[in-house]
Amino acid sequence: MNIKKRILFPFALVAICQVQAQDAQMDAYVRDLMSKMTLDEKIGQLNQEAVSDGVLTGSVVQGGVSEKIAKGQVGSTFGIWGADKLRKLQDIAVKNSRLHIPLLFGLDVIHGHRTLFPIPLGISATWDLGLVEQSAQLAAKEATADGLKWVFSPMVDIARDPRWGRVSEGSGEDPFLGSLIAKAMVRGYQGKNLADSNTVLACIKHFALYGGAEAGREYNTVDMSPIKMYEYYLPPYKAAIDAGAASIMTSFNDLNGVPSTANRWLLTDLLRKEWGFKGLVVSDYTAVSELTAHGLGDLQTVSAKSLHAGLDMDMVSEGFLKTLPQSLKEGKVTMEEIDQACRRVLEAKYKAGLFADPYKYLNADRASKDILTAENRAVARKVAAHSFVLLKNANQVLPLKKIGTIALVGPLADSRRNMLGTWSVSGEWDKSVTVKEGLENAVNGKAKIIYAKGANISDDTTFNKKVNVFGEEISIDPKSPEALIQDAVDAAKQSDVVVAVVGEAADMTGESASRSNIDIPESQRNLLKALVATGKPVVAVLYNGRPLTLDWEDKNLNAILDVWFGGTEGGNAIADVLFGDYNPSGKLTLTFPRNVGQIPIYYNQKNTGRPYYEGQPTKFKSDYLDVPNTPLYAFGYGLSYTQFEYGTPTVSDENPKGNAPIQLKVTVKNTGKYAGEETAQLYVSDPVASVARSVIELKSFQKVFLKPGESRELSFIVNPDCLKFYNTDLKYDWEPGEFIFRVGGSSANTKSVRVNWTK
Ligand code: NOJ
Repeated sequence: MNIKKRILFPFALVAICQVQAQDAQMDAYVRDLMSKMTLDEKIGQLNQEAVSDGVLTGSVVQGGVSEKIAKGQVGSTFGIWGADKLRKLQDIAVKNSRLHIPLLFGLDVIHGHRTLFPIPLGISATWDLGLVEQSAQLAAKEATADGLKWVFSPMVDIARDPRWGRVSEGSGEDPFLGSLIAKAMVRGYQGKNLADSNTVLACIKHFALYGGAEAGREYNTVDMSPIKMYEYYLPPYKAAIDAGAASIMTSFNDLNGVPSTANRWLLTDLLRKEWGFKGLVVSDYTAVSELTAHGLGDLQTVSAKSLHAGLDMDMVSEGFLKTLPQSLKEGKVTMEEIDQACRRVLEAKYKAGLFADPYKYLNADRASKDILTAENRAVARKVAAHSFVLLKNANQVLPLKKIGTIALVGPLADSRRNMLGTWSVSGEWDKSVTVKEGLENAVNGKAKIIYAKGANISDDTTFNKKVNVFGEEISIDPKSPEALIQDAVDAAKQSDVVVAVVGEAADMTGESASRSNIDIPESQRNLLKALVATGKPVVAVLYNGRPLTLDWEDKNLNAILDVWFGGTEGGNAIADVLFGDYNPSGKLTLTFPRNVGQIPIYYNQKNTGRPYYEGQPTKFKSDYLDVPNTPLYAFGYGLSYTQFEYGTPTVSDENPKGNAPIQLKVTVKNTGKYAGEETAQLYVSDPVASVARSVIELKSFQKVFLKPGESRELSFIVNPDCLKFYNTDLKYDWEPGEFIFRVGGSSANTKSVRVNWTK
């Protein structure tokens, strides 16, 4: 044993003993409490109610919540926040219910609570785990300052289909990066102690494989082979569990025929037995009662099936509350199953410190100190600037200078409502900074800015009505589309450069926001065409919660900066990047197709038996007649105002044996004019294996900041763990042979070194 280990050993032992002692205390407390509980009180703990307070995140709300709380029929609520409001509910539970069991207050805090960060897909584009963790930490601080102790995040669903609106809520298509982000989020939310005043219980969602919805249509069926599941879709859930996530939410979809919420293989065999998850399982919103529409039976039947499958808490359906007593009488569920679920709910409350002090997080003074502070806003601005991805920058039109005249056009340029993006239920859009304000702040009178709206986000009123459910994100201007465009063209003609802020409205992505056409809406493309016709350089600042099909834009615009939905400080962050105060460094985590016909398209695809290679005859090859196989913008892609050049990677041993790691080195040089940050990505290819493997897979990455002319040798420590894969028996291992390690600034642009690795 080395010295370090010898010193650490007693501490590790002490820590294990402490955890065991805490578990024993919790066990005794919960056992004692349960011995006093009636059947109805136990079932009451399994019931979660949505409390309507303006913002609804589902279509059903049950009434009479206060009465139910007093009767001990509610274990948790969600939908409202604020120490004063929640104190009223907690008072009922603690003072009026027979056993005084405190409520656990949850909410959809997804990318910030009141200070909003970029949407999660944007945060993932930072590839910066420190920033990811910090954003979750601040969200937890704000949430607890508002009385909340449970957030329904992180959403870790891997997705490969940008038609699905919920790709905006996740971290993209890659299991390796997705797993690291999932862990960082859990760390950020939960900290070291769930009972700390600034930490919240994380809730991993949606379990499982929701991102595999057929045709990208919301809530649709998922049918998936075991290898695909284990290799690509399950790792982030597992990673979040390994990081200690306190809870997990079931998904709406059916999985290979059995809906997740009633899927015993998923909730018990995999989650509990194989992965050892000990926390709380909650259903999604009315997912229990929706099992009836899935065709699984009436409310009593589906509630019994869900409990039996391993579900602990029923969100909104009241299926558990209303039917479990009868099911117990009829022998359709057992007392052990009810006890087990009840115990998990109580344990979550115990870990949250609620039994020690039910009012711990209901301190009305905290909101003014901890929410929307200058510090929180500064971090939000930083995360946003780091999340933007520069997709095109012909002739270095960016960064802009703070002189001359800038035409600022587009329906999103001065839209406060659309800054926060989807899932910002507690966010205050009226406190966000628009692009117009951001640019004006930045130029501070040194350059002239001429603003024109130029177009409606969409002219399609039927479409707009569906998007506007949470408020008027898309409005139809009294001016005609032609007149709007004319205003923008007039502005462009008086200017040196055009900044067109275009794309999607906030709720064109998120839940229930699938699109079959992922172009920029026609009204805005018409605007862009007219702007291009003026001959002025056109820079698009693109709002989007999903990859869009940008073939036309890529061919015709001078620059495209993808800013997702930047959150509260979005406008300032956009100005930071447009003027070069921050050099963009974001990299895509989801592939941008050329057209929807290529979907699903993702970087870690298989080869097929007839792979097509660029430049070869195409007959009898795996390709299309009408579009290349390659995406428009690949996974990992993103430009900078400077350029980075990679040397050829080298390894410390080209013929390694066994499990000992090797070192891979590569030199990255900043060959351009600006200082900047690059994300060097390490991929591996396994050309020969017992199953068909992905052509490449991400295995590591490093961020490096380089001044102009500076170069740095990066070192990656590589061991055979990164060669492992699931074989047909779902055994996770590596097979000896040749491997190719590839390093570069994008999955589509790497330099490689070969290694022959034997066991
Ligand atoms: C439904 C969504 O699928 C889920 O992500 C969310 O947490 C719940 N509603 C609660 O609002």
